[in-house]
Amino acid sequence: MKDKSDIGVIGLAVMGENLILNMASKGFTVSAFNRSTEKVERFVSSRAKDKTIKGCFSLEEFVNSLASPRKVMLMVKAGQAVDATIEQLIPLLDKGDIIIDGGNSQFEDSDRRTQYLSEKGLLYVGSGVSGGEEGALLGPSIMPGGSPDAWPAIKPIFQGISAKVNGDVPCCDWVGKGGAGHFVKMVHNGIEYGDMQLICEAYLLMRDMLGMSTDEMQQVFADWNQTELGSYLIEITADILAYKEDGQPLVEKILDTAGQKGTGKWTGVTALHLGTPLTLIGEAVFARCLSAIKEERVEASSKINGVTTVFNGDKAEFIAALKDALLASKMVSYAQGFALMKQASEDYDWDLNYGAIALMWRGGCIIRSVFLDDIKSAYDNNPEIKNLLMDDYFNKTVEAAQAGWRKVVAAAALSGISAPCLSSALSYFDGYRTENLPANLLQAQRDYFGAHTYERKDKARGEFFHTNWTGRG
Ligand code: NAP
Ligand code: ATR
Repeated sequence: MKDKSDIGVIGLAVMGENLILNMASKGFTVSAFNRSTEKVERFVSSRAKDKTIKGCFSLEEFVNSLASPRKVMLMVKAGQAVDATIEQLIPLLDKGDIIIDGGNSQFEDSDRRTQYLSEKGLLYVGSGVSGGEEGALLGPSIMPGGSPDAWPAIKPIFQGISAKVNGDVPCCDWVGKGGAGHFVKMVHNGIEYGDMQLICEAYLLMRDMLGMSTDEMQQVFADWNQTELGSYLIEITADILAYKEDGQPLVEKILDTAGQKGTGKWTGVTALHLGTPLTLIGEAVFARCLSAIKEERVEASSKINGVTTVFNGDKAEFIAALKDALLASKMVSYAQGFALMKQASEDYDWDLNYGAIALMWRGGCIIRSVFLDDIKSAYDNNPEIKNLLMDDYFNKTVEAAQAGWRKVVAAAALSGISAPCLSSALSYFDGYRTENLPANLLQAQRDYFGAHTYERKDKARGEFFHTNWTGRG
């Protein structure tokens, strides 16, 4: 083992341990530390045994074990624990050393920490790491941002341990300065919420409208996985539907209340702050909230009448339409997510590389799918594209899927089946391609009650008018 370690990791919970084992398997020497040092003892005597991993029992020993410039990666609980650990490290590190936070931190915190540490002569990297514990061990998607000067030093390690696609292209590249890495990871998680909810809506329509069995639905998802919808989430949905407990599908025994840890909510809140329509992810978060009030829904289900219809159309035709609806809605979701990153990149001066981001999500993470190659191509064709729906491939695909998509949304509404993401995606699509929205009336209302003024179609932009709508003084 080398005298000094290539990198050190603090935090020996599941993510930290697995990342260390991944680094060691790629030939790097890694120092390991944890606040509760019994975890160091346990790790070095079990999973880390006979590997290029050095257990350290104090922060001083840990810092002294690292080659210069020191690279210290934090895999501790996001929030206060990150700040506390940084404060302990500052007096022990030298100018030019690098602190990396690989947890699920909020991007504003990474922005603040990058600035704070640069004032102390230290380099900071806030990095999204996606793929859960298996990804951490076998190859995650890694989204680093922060102090650009840190990138050349950490690049070989990060690209070495990340997932690879299309041969040997690493699912890791420099994202941008400040909080850009954690921002991109946050959007990834928001998109994950949207993809999951869209799949759930397709499942609900098949189950409650078409009356399909779990075995029949399993076959549909398995078939879809061979198409442009092919993705990790569609694949595991087919696996889940196939899983039986005592001969019965386990999924039917699971209570319909979804939990959430908050990254989808952060994405929605950030979109509201930046004024970018992110309707599908917003609906996906609210759908989880609606699912969580189970008792209230049970009560409402016996008190509030909707409609009950029996499907008497062509099942196979409807399933084909459902595939179109899913694909078109997914395209809208990614178009909205990338539009949010574009707005953030402009507002925060990040200069994000959207094609590289699509490629980073192509492997290792939860939303990995075939479809991300098409996003990469769209940005290769035009790096300045305003919205993915303007790209020829996306435009044509959604156009071809439109009839089926509209049929599904209409059928869901007529059957009283809730499909918030499929429907709101269509509504956004129609709004985005509408030259004249009703905001003229809205502006008149604002001017009527609050003298907020309006611009006129027959005058230059930037000229504002007010009308005394009631004629009263
Ligand atoms: P975790 O449960 O989020 O955090 C546990 C680690 O944090 C332990 O090493 C713990 O040390 C340390 N810690 C907690 N409070 C501390 C404090 N005040 N000072 C110093 N250390 C403190 O672990 P995890 O699930 O491995 O996740 C690590 C990070 O990766 C988190 O930000 C998480 O959100 C993110 N992440 C998790 C996943 C996942 O699938 N689990 C996926 C991607 C990203 P002690 O042992 O001393 O308590
Ligand atoms: P990935 O990108 O692989 O999805 P992740 O963002 O950490 O990695 O999410 C993996 C799982 O950890 C998710 O189930 C996530 O929960 P939500 O979907 O409910 O948000 C969960 N998770 C994320 N951050 C967490 C945190 N700080 N504490 C506990 N669980 C967390």
